[in-house]
Order: sequence, then C-alpha cells, then structure tokens
Amino acid sequence: MLIRKRKGWEIPEREATPESVYCRRREILLGAGFLGLEGLVPAAEGKRPLYPAKRNPEFTLDRPVTEEWAATGYNNFYEFDPQDKQAVKDKVGSFVISPWKMEVTGLVHKPKTFDLDDLLDMFPLEERLYRMRCVEAWSMAAPWTGFPFSNLVKLVEPKAEAKYVRFWSASKPKEMPGMRSTPWYPWPFFEGLRMDEAMNPLTMMVTGVYGKPLPKQNGAPVRIVTPWKYGYKSPKSIVKIEFVTKEPPTFWNKLQSSEYGFYSNVNPHKPHPRWSQASEKVIPNMERRPTLLYNGYEKYVAGLYNGKEF
Ligand code: MTE
Repeated sequence: MLIRKRKGWEIPEREATPESVYCRRREILLGAGFLGLEGLVPAAEGKRPLYPAKRNPEFTLDRPVTEEWAATGYNNFYEFDPQDKQAVKDKVGSFVISPWKMEVTGLVHKPKTFDLDDLLDMFPLEERLYRMRCVEAWSMAAPWTGFPFSNLVKLVEPKAEAKYVRFWSASKPKEMPGMRSTPWYPWPFFEGLRMDEAMNPLTMMVTGVYGKPLPKQNGAPVRIVTPWKYGYKSPKSIVKIEFVTKEPPTFWNKLQSSEYGFYSNVNPHKPHPRWSQASEKVIPNMERRPTLLYNGYEKYVAGLYNGKEF
C-alpha cells in the first residue's frame, strides 16, 4: 500500500483560504478594522510595506501635527454629510473602496486606467507634514502619505494643448447618504488645477495619513492635496482625471461663483464675502492664529501667479 506522507508545507484543501477570500483580502482586513495591518500585506507577499512611508524632511511645520482622532473625526465630505463634520466618520461604513479604478484621460499620449494597487506599486510613497486650511477658517496639520502628482502627469505624457487638469470624485449615491439628501447639488464633486499648479512639487496625490491608508472620511483610497489653496481644491476619492485646454468648471464655483473662485489660494487679505480670512481656528481646540499668505507656502508657489489669482 502506498502511503503518501504530507510535506511540511502542504495543507489539506479544506484548510486553504478560499479563492474568493484571498482575492478580497485587503478589503476584508480593512473591513475588520485592521487598518494598521493593511500596510503589512505586501510585506507578507515579499513586497516592501507601504506604510508608514519615509518622511520627506523638506516639509516642516510651525505648529504641532493635529492629533489623529481630530483630523479623522472632523471632515468636510459633503457626499456623506453636508452639515455635520463630526458625523462624516460614522456615515462612511457602506462606502466600498476596493477594488478602485482611476481613469486618466483627455489630452495625453498615454491614457490609462489605474487599479489602485498598481498605482501604489508605481511610485515610491513618502510622508509630508502639510498645513491644511479650509475656506470656512478651520485648519489642521496632517502627515499625508503619497507621491508628487507630477509623477503621474509625466507618466501619461500630456499633449502640448493640455493646459488644465480636471478631477472627479466618486459618485455612489447608494453608499453616500449626503448625495441622496442633497439632490440639488451638481454631483459628482469636481475640481481643477492649472497645469503648472498640478506640476508644482507641493501638489501631492495622497493615499495615506498618519502612517496608514487614508480613512474613508479623509478621501480614501486616493485624493489630491494642494496645501496653499483652500481645502476644497483637494478633491477626495478620485475616480477620473482629465487633461483639457480650457479652465474647467469647479463644484463650489458653479454653486456660488461670487464666493468660490477657480484659484482659491489662501489669502488673509481677501475676505470671504461672508467672513474674514485674516485668522484661522486650529482644530480641535479652535484657538485662533493668523492666516498665512498661500498658507505659508509662498516660496513654492508665489512664482506661479501674477498676484491677482486668489
Ligand atoms: N472632496 C469631495 N469629494 N467632497 C467634499 O465635500 N470637501 C473639501 C475637500 N475635498 C470635499 C472634498 C473640503 S471643503 C475640505 S476642507 C477638505 O476636503 C477636507 O479634507 P479632510 O476631511 O481630510 O480634512
């Protein structure tokens, strides 16, 4: 009788991870709340861990980093709740962020639809400490993880006629209760940058914060961060990017053009029609401090403008 002795590495089929579970392992880990473990998954597969990424020492702050609970618990993400910033984190549960596709199209030589996992493998991630200033006057400072957006732009090779970049956030009304409660808004959320703004070294494509993948309320799985502009110029949960010739329309400008311009660069001297922008309130304690021109990033961006674009 032939008795086959099982090798050390062999396991019975009934103990093997079912294929359906294996393929969704990132989602399952995330869903189970093992956010911290997510970055370890590639390590287990022999790849480098994505988070925490090495900090880029060039970007320093003039204030402490906002505590994680505050930055992930006070959010503007109208698709989930257009009124209560503290409720957003409790309304993102049904938002499916894996698998995620992001289409890059328009006036480029190499249009491409990225699977988020491929995008993460494509460019080295780094951590940067940035100030964030909302047009409503609250502010924070966060350790974002991502890569310079210019890396992605170069990869798709824009044509000479490409002068602006358009962004679209996800539109999933079944998963986004704020979209359902505000059908009069021109959903999905859309934003734009001029090409030189998009290529500026400060403009970051962000996939993580606080050394972990982005929480859904902060714009998972991929967003833009432009720290010299008011926060709405940093669209969350991006599904489409298009290179175009003309200045694109933007969500808040379309809703209220007298209050929200295309450029929206942080400027303490230009009040919002309904409130001053001279000072800001730092979350969570809301203590006031003076607003900085271009949110303190003048040396990086002042050369982009002739002094009129605010
Ligand atoms: N992106 C989408 N899709 N929807 C939004 O409502 N709000 C913007 C911006 N990006 C918003 C968005 C505003 S007003 C701000 S201040 C920042 O996201 C807030 O980002 P945070 O929640 O990570 O602080």
